[in-house]
Amino acid sequence: MNYDKTDMPAAYDAGRGYSPGVLAYWLDVISQSVPKGSVAEILDLGCGTGRYSNALADYYDATVTAIDPSEKMLAEARRKASPRVRCERASAESLPLHDASMDMVFISMAFHHFDHPDRAAAECCRVLRPDGAVCLRAGTIERIDRYAYLEFFPSSRPLLNRALQSQAFIESTFASAGFRLIRHELISSEVAESWSAYAEKLVYRADSILVQLSDQEFEAGLTAIREYAKTAPPHERVVEPVDFFVFQPRASSFT
Ligand SMILES: C[S@@+](CC[C@H](N)C(=O)[O-])C[C@H]1O[C@@H](n2cnc3c(N)ncnc32)[C@H](O)[C@@H]1O
Repeated sequence: MNYDKTDMPAAYDAGRGYSPGVLAYWLDVISQSVPKGSVAEILDLGCGTGRYSNALADYYDATVTAIDPSEKMLAEARRKASPRVRCERASAESLPLHDASMDMVFISMAFHHFDHPDRAAAECCRVLRPDGAVCLRAGTIERIDRYAYLEFFPSSRPLLNRALQSQAFIESTFASAGFRLIRHELISSEVAESWSAYAEKLVYRADSILVQLSDQEFEAGLTAIREYAKTAPPHERVVEPVDFFVFQPRASSFT
């Protein structure tokens, strides 16, 4: 999806932003595979508004190259970028980076948007140092049934089926590009601290599936979620499964 043709960039942080606790949780998940002190150069690929860019730079005490083809998403990232984050407009399929220049490639909720995932995976392999790693967060087809908004927006199911990749596709795409799978785990991730907070985040419609729904279906679903929120326990967190993959170049000495 071309994010520049949508209104999502300005709404993304309001609709998809993290609480500090959720961001810290994810940094902990990532560091279980890529420990602190082991990386100096990170590529945040498909960085969007930079939801992770500053946090990765701070946590790893590293330099982050934040790359995205969307000028509007990058404008948001640039506005917030700390001095150790360099934002650059480019596509995953053709990275403006030297061979073996990165210690970690981080990809969050972006791989399914790439036009040519095979070329993107090959570029990841090219720019990574031999002991580097790709850390990838993704929604996959296998998890669609567990998405919180599914039952409230019936048309979202076929759209998700078309948009998302399977776990096997992601694994085989990286295998063909010269990687081996080091870790795959389903991580339960909080999307909102309560159902009413969830509804108020959805209002921003900062989701590539929700923007494709008719306004009528979107409004009806939102009303239904608000009604549901009135009956749900007030502090019931809304959580969704996220597939987390770690790949290493096959030639790597990492075990
Ligand atoms: C859902 S956003 C995720 C942004 C960020 N990684 C995050 O987790 O908040 C998906 C991003 O992928 C970007 N994208 C789409 N096609 C791309 C490509 N070919 N190469 C790199 N990024 C791409 C979009 O512009 C968008 O910013």
